[in-house]
Amino acid sequence: MPRARISTFAQTDQPVAPSGVRSAPDCTLVIFGAHGDLTKRLLVPALYDLKVSGLLPDRFRVIGIDRAEDTTDGWRAGLTGMMENFTKDPTAEFYTPKIDETVWTWLAERLSYVRADFTDPAALRDIGSDIDGNVVFYLAVPARFFAPAIEALGKAGLTEEPDGMFRRVVIEKPFGTDLQSAKDLNSHILAVLKEEQIFRVDHFLGKETVQNILAMRFGNVIFEPIWHRDYIDNIQITAAETVTVESRAAFYEATGALRDMVPNHLFQLLAMIAMEPPASFAPEKVRTSKQTLFESILPIKPEDVVRGQYAAGTVKGKPVTAYRDSPGVAADSDTETYVAMKLEVQNWRWAGVPFYIRTGKAMSNRLAEIVVEFRVPPLTLFPSAHAHSPPPNRVILNVQPVQGVTICFGAKKPGPEMRLVDVQSRFRYPDFFVREPNVGYETLLYDCLCGDATLFQRADNIETAWSAVEPVLAGWREGKTAPELYEAGSAGPGGADELLARDGRAWHPIAGQE
Ligand code: BG6
Repeated sequence: MPRARISTFAQTDQPVAPSGVRSAPDCTLVIFGAHGDLTKRLLVPALYDLKVSGLLPDRFRVIGIDRAEDTTDGWRAGLTGMMENFTKDPTAEFYTPKIDETVWTWLAERLSYVRADFTDPAALRDIGSDIDGNVVFYLAVPARFFAPAIEALGKAGLTEEPDGMFRRVVIEKPFGTDLQSAKDLNSHILAVLKEEQIFRVDHFLGKETVQNILAMRFGNVIFEPIWHRDYIDNIQITAAETVTVESRAAFYEATGALRDMVPNHLFQLLAMIAMEPPASFAPEKVRTSKQTLFESILPIKPEDVVRGQYAAGTVKGKPVTAYRDSPGVAADSDTETYVAMKLEVQNWRWAGVPFYIRTGKAMSNRLAEIVVEFRVPPLTLFPSAHAHSPPPNRVILNVQPVQGVTICFGAKKPGPEMRLVDVQSRFRYPDFFVREPNVGYETLLYDCLCGDATLFQRADNIETAWSAVEPVLAGWREGKTAPELYEAGSAGPGGADELLARDGRAWHPIAGQE
């Protein structure tokens, strides 16, 4: 994120890394859920990466807390083994050909493990007696523990901020399962903590390509003047996955694609692409701008929502069993593994511009992107080399796995005739930036240690996002339409194509891109 923002929040007496960015302030990171997947797969590798970048302070400690029998030596040894394993798997989220011994030793020496029940105030009080100064509590635990763990922290006196020191708590989605449960969760935790002590993670905001959307829109002059209803015809937001429900049936059966992806990850993409320029890049200005956007979403109509569920098929050459035949899934499950919907944003900039969003599992390709489709020119001066009129101009924000921006426009096909073809100009990250190991949590962790909440969700952001999808959830509570089956390895159910065809439009293909 921009240097100016970082230096505003990091302590000014902290050393500056070779990159010019200041290291985080001295602090203790307490991880609840030390044995969990999030800690192992993402948090510890992200801490390692931050140390490689010189962004962790010398006076830094990590205390891992979990209920499992373990010792500091055991925990360190397990994490050391895990880091070594990462070097053997180039497909791992965290892959580096070699672990830097000095860096890992530095971090490992700062790790300690405490076996405790993190919902027990007495146990937390004991842990607290060993900590002074700044503390970040990272709740890398299932959501049902958020409220009890925060309550216990409060009872143990660990949420009070002595002498200008900070006490922060990080939680990660799901923040409730609907509007009411999100409100309940917020009111529980806000009874113990002040809003500025809470850092709610949406890991999509940890992605460089998502952070880049604001840089692209508000750090240049060539995009923003055309970024509105006069020039833009529609915007399509896609998060397609090839993964299936895998071993997550217990969670997924009760959740489904809408709750899992829409009011959180897809709405973050929506906010980045559609929000008004904030008055400054200060966290509250950015979050308020997002909030205004969420408040402008019109109630979603039931006929503008398509639910799908994958049937058996083949994904990337591998056979996939139907969702309903997956372990832990009810044989008559009507949970959606795909959802598409049309949203309307009622403000001066976007009135009349549809936002089509879709996400699904077991699809043909893994792809997250935003396609901004422009209007066609007011008159057709040139014939097209295409059978029909040339496709409209598109700006495509390639979020993953391809990272970059693609601009599609018409150019004259060489030859004696004046005929237009659709061509592309591509910005790709590897062409401009050295690839640094990054699991997507480095910036989030660093920002939280520095107290910069720009990339985190405020209570009102969460509640307004849920209230935008509430009409859909309310309709489903009264009786769901059965999900339309789609073949695993396809682009989703036919109903999603009809949703756009009704408006005379079509989805941008979910094709692999380079
Ligand atoms: C998670 C969802 O929040 O995001 C998963 O629970 C989904 O179902 C994942 O697969 C997608 O994130 P990413 O970063 O892998 O695209």
